[in-house]
Amino acid sequence: MNTFDENDQRNHPRPDQTEFSRMVDVALNRRQLLGAAGAGLGLFLGGQGLAQAAQGQPARRIGPAIGFAPVSANSLDTVSVPAGYEWRVLASWGDAILPGGTAFDPHTRGSAASQALSIGDNNDGMSFFSLSPEHAVIAVNNEYANYEYLFSNGRCSSLEDTRKAQAAHGVSVFEVRRVAGVWKLQPNASLNRRITANTEMRLSGPAAGSALLKTQADPSGTLVLGTFNNCANGRTPWGTYLTCEENFNGYFGSAEGLTDSAAFKRYGISAKGAGINWYPFDERFDVAKNPNEPNRFGWVVEIDPMDPTSTPIKRTALGRIKHENAEVVVNTDGHVVVYMGDDEKGEHIYKFVAAKKFDAKNPKVNRDLLDQGTLYVARFSTVDGKAEGEGEWLELTHGKNGLTAEAGFKDQADVLVHTRLAATVVGATTMDRPEWIAVHPTQAQVYVTLTNNSDRGVKPNQVVNGPNPRAKNVYGQIVRWSPKGNDHTARTFTWDIFVLAGNPALHKDAYAGSANITAENMFNSPDGLAFDRDGRLWIQTDGDYSDVKDFAGMGNNQMLCANPVTGEIKRFLVGPVACEITGIALTPDQKTMFVGIQHPGEKLAPSHFPQGGNAVPRSSIVAISRRDGRVVGL
Ligand code: FEO
Ligand code: CA
Ligand code: CA
Repeated sequence: MNTFDENDQRNHPRPDQTEFSRMVDVALNRRQLLGAAGAGLGLFLGGQGLAQAAQGQPARRIGPAIGFAPVSANSLDTVSVPAGYEWRVLASWGDAILPGGTAFDPHTRGSAASQALSIGDNNDGMSFFSLSPEHAVIAVNNEYANYEYLFSNGRCSSLEDTRKAQAAHGVSVFEVRRVAGVWKLQPNASLNRRITANTEMRLSGPAAGSALLKTQADPSGTLVLGTFNNCANGRTPWGTYLTCEENFNGYFGSAEGLTDSAAFKRYGISAKGAGINWYPFDERFDVAKNPNEPNRFGWVVEIDPMDPTSTPIKRTALGRIKHENAEVVVNTDGHVVVYMGDDEKGEHIYKFVAAKKFDAKNPKVNRDLLDQGTLYVARFSTVDGKAEGEGEWLELTHGKNGLTAEAGFKDQADVLVHTRLAATVVGATTMDRPEWIAVHPTQAQVYVTLTNNSDRGVKPNQVVNGPNPRAKNVYGQIVRWSPKGNDHTARTFTWDIFVLAGNPALHKDAYAGSANITAENMFNSPDGLAFDRDGRLWIQTDGDYSDVKDFAGMGNNQMLCANPVTGEIKRFLVGPVACEITGIALTPDQKTMFVGIQHPGEKLAPSHFPQGGNAVPRSSIVAISRRDGRVVGL
């Protein structure tokens, strides 16, 4: 094995933990980091900015305007937005969307049948598909279920419970209309659809039909039931929705013991499961009986939101990992590139380059663009702890870079089903839990949230390295890169750190964060990430909301808005008690922003969002707009 970390250790030996911390402190003292970030920005400005500077003209280093007055951190059980803004609930867990559906029942919290006709639980990534200025379709992930609210006894303890939980997962697709300036959910509209853990899907691409994907119920290895733990998302230029399967492993278990397997170990599949408890009632999830069933999850799934009868397709060419989002960009030469993170401590960042080019005039060709192409994984390099450096994309193709039969990969299907194992063989850099990736709307810049990593500097395969510069990283950071020649298909890139989250009121070292973190805008665990059309970078958090110790002064999970050029960051929104903020979509006119409030009141924390009073807390999508009707964020 030949990982970044091992190379780094060999080339730049760091004798002990104390020495590590000292080096990080020196390299990342707050002033110096600002300098490093500034140097990185010079790269992103490219030749034009440098030429302007050389001619004595001021380089344009202003970036998009961020006009609102920041919101203070708080621990209130509501959504806080800037003065002049308002929010309304668009949709909540349990809202009926299909014919025959019934209103949410706060006593029973619904049945398997009613849940299958209603919006699922824990809304996460979402996309907005415009049909007209006043009419659209929203597709939104339903990542998991909060059993403490879904079930009266807090447990999944029957087949009916299992079916109800499975129906609370997946994707909800529904129409919305703007009526008198307010976007409203349209129950029973013709494009409304529920996709659940039991919806029929197809596996396509190089791994489809592989022996690793065959089960007793599906000897073809191409037909699979359902999708679950759908975390973040993507949206293709040909109008489809991508939903990304993340922590699928915890849904499998068994009363019997499992045979040891490197793949099960790496993907976290165990007899114990994660307490989701489907396997006692639905044999498909009993991994001793169906050892290949877990291989049919962990994919990116493509859905046509305009055809409720279409079959969702799992695109195996994009690899099997704990997918966070799938950020799609059309390169200047027409090639479609998809950036993807694998959210687990010490996992990796991936890029897929489609073999064929996007053809706006030929939608049929685009339909299967994600079936053929090359998958890569990122290796970052740096010099002695600097907060910037270079990187390269390592190809994950059978027969190259050591991905041979001797190494355990007999064909490309093996490489794709066991993408994580292949990434280790080729020497990918272990990262601090890669969450969302966002590409700038007009420049070749890519940003990734690295949410936190308690194993950094602790586990031998996760030594402190350039883009992951702090041991026991409780706060997280956002790293960005620029592909060589502004070409997203290029093999190399340059990177720097956009922000190190931290607490400057508490710490004076690297844990204070980078210079663009202050007592007024501090946050932890950046997760959701997206650019708007004007290049404002929106950051959503899924972190520690205790407001004490390392996190004192940060309050509830929140959303911030950043200027990628100046590094300025302002808090835009604070969520209710015990929620995570995740999922963002804007209308094409940028005047309404949809934001996801996930799991308010999780673990029975005292939330009654959104209804208030004594209501059961419900994950919801809120619509945010300005009272003066102008663009959000401006
Ligand atoms: Fe579902 Fe990594 O968040
Ligand atoms: Ca996330
Ligand atoms: Ca997270």
